[in-house]
Amino acid sequence: MMNRVLICYGTRYGSTSEVVQEMSQTARELGVQVDVVNLENETPFPEPEGYDLVIIGSGIRAGQWKKEPLKFIEQKLKSLSKTKVALFVVSGYAGNPDKVAEAQAEYLDSMPEKYPGLSPISTALIGGVFEFKKYNLVIRALVKNIVKNQYPPNAEIPEKIDFRDWDMIRDWITGLVQ
Ligand SMILES: Cc1cc2nc3c(=O)[nH]c(=O)nc-3n(C[C@H](O)[C@H](O)[C@H](O)COP(=O)(O)O)c2cc1C
Repeated sequence: MMNRVLICYGTRYGSTSEVVQEMSQTARELGVQVDVVNLENETPFPEPEGYDLVIIGSGIRAGQWKKEPLKFIEQKLKSLSKTKVALFVVSGYAGNPDKVAEAQAEYLDSMPEKYPGLSPISTALIGGVFEFKKYNLVIRALVKNIVKNQYPPNAEIPEKIDFRDWDMIRDWITGLVQ
């Protein structure tokens, strides 16, 4: 059982914050002490020492993690390499069966190579959200292009597409902390 867990993350549109909230609530209900840090709002970054597990995650945009969680990994690599670490991403491609393998490889499996010493005990590719009202015109057109081949030609694309699988999210965090 993990007694003290740190979850730190980056988000651009907010869907990762809701995922983290569900993870932390689930872990707390299991009796775990959980600290949650949105790395955008926190300087200096939290210290990984003293935690039984550090969970690091990010929403993905244009194939990239948000910069703060990457900076956190870079800056704390030495202590992270001595701590149990788990990684997750919240990604649109996680909701597309044709893209899942590519997303897992690019956004998660590539991390130990990019950050030698980082050795996650687990990774999770979590389905993301597309919410068109949050985007400007250019981004909206770009995102419609990403999602349109998942719909029949000429089909109306919904205003909000939410691929988050809350059971999967709760199962992942439960397995990790137990
Ligand atoms: C402009 C834009 C580009 C995106 N590019 C990708 C991408 O390259 N790969 C992917 O898996 N998801 C992509 N997505 C989907 C996001 O990963 C998804 O919206 C996720 O929920 C974002 O997390 P956040 O709300 O925490 O920022 C993109 C979304 C937007 C708006």
